[in-house]
Amino acid sequence: MPHATHLLPLFIVIQLFWLATSSHGHGHGNTRDSSYCHPDQAAALLELKQSFIFDYSTTTLPSWQPGTDCCSWEGVRCDDGVSGGGGSVTVLDLGGRGLYSYRCHAALFNLTSLRYLDLSMNDFGGSHIPAVGFERLSKLTHLNLSYSGFYGQIPLPIGKLTNLVSLDLSSLHNIESDEITNIYSILDGYNFLVLREPSFEILLANLTNLRELYLDGVDISSSGEGWSSGLGIAVPHIQILSMVYCQLHGPIHTSLSSLRSLTVVNLKLNGGISGAVPEFFTDFLNLSVLQL
Ligand SMILES: *[C@@H]1O[C@H](CO)[C@@H](O)[C@H](O)[C@H]1NC(C)=O
Ligand SMILES: *[C@@H]1O[C@H](CO)[C@@H](O)[C@H](O)[C@H]1NC(C)=O
Ligand SMILES: *[C@@H]1O[C@H](CO)[C@@H](O)[C@H](O)[C@H]1NC(C)=O
Ligand SMILES: *[C@@H]1O[C@H](CO)[C@@H](O)[C@H](O)[C@H]1NC(C)=O
Repeated sequence: MPHATHLLPLFIVIQLFWLATSSHGHGHGNTRDSSYCHPDQAAALLELKQSFIFDYSTTTLPSWQPGTDCCSWEGVRCDDGVSGGGGSVTVLDLGGRGLYSYRCHAALFNLTSLRYLDLSMNDFGGSHIPAVGFERLSKLTHLNLSYSGFYGQIPLPIGKLTNLVSLDLSSLHNIESDEITNIYSILDGYNFLVLREPSFEILLANLTNLRELYLDGVDISSSGEGWSSGLGIAVPHIQILSMVYCQLHGPIHTSLSSLRSLTVVNLKLNGGISGAVPEFFTDFLNLSVLQL
């Protein structure tokens, strides 16, 4: 490999040049160094990049290169790194890029400063959402794994993300069911994700800060008629509750009458919901969408 041996010294020179410019090259008192990507964070992101196959994607993440500031990479943002040692990644927004992967790589869970994570509209190949790892992302306020080709049980660690304000695990595009008469036969088999163990109630029990919850298409049938009985206590500040085609059963529990912040309630395509439309919905001053 004669080429490689000639290239190596050049590579080292470039690295040294980069080190020199990054520590001295931007004058005094600049803020850029403080938000410069922490090396551990860059390593985790690069490992994540390696787990993607770009055959059908809209990007190959060309800015994600070793030795460059990961805080300026596509879809990445950092805090200002006041604690020293470089900026930590707080935002990873890879939504809608058509990335393919066999599974969600564990390197993701080393980005422990993440507050906003969007992996929606990619394809994780029908793998499970990892059963271990999400508990490390305890600062998350926004998590969007919708339409990402995940399959099976939603794992317990997601229920430990007590700072979550917004959770979107939908696996079903919004369907206008009105014109379609045999909608249930079309949807048959479309419940890719399921809440059984943990159940819906257990997953939500500690997510008390939630404002937005989207679970369209998640199979929650195992909760039977109990799905709505704990909602009033579990998510007191909820504003958007979207649970289209979740195989829900039984009446809407009076526990919901305390959820006065609700603006959107979408429970379409749950043929098992029974009983009268609760009158307390008329007391919800901010309710603008109610679909049952
Ligand atoms: C995560 O970080 C630890 C050290 O904190 C390191 O040993 C490990 O290799 C990293 N894992 C990944 C997948 O990057
Ligand atoms: C999650 O991502 C999808 C697809 O990118 C988007 O339509 C949806 O609005 C997002 N959810 C939230 C709660 O922002
Ligand atoms: C919720 O919090 C309680 C009390 O701290 C704990 O026992 C329970 O395991 C938590 N549930 C989840 C899903 O983390
Ligand atoms: C209704 O919306 C207004 C304006 O956004 C807000 O100030 C108020 O707190 C909301 N009411 C409830 C019960 O959430």
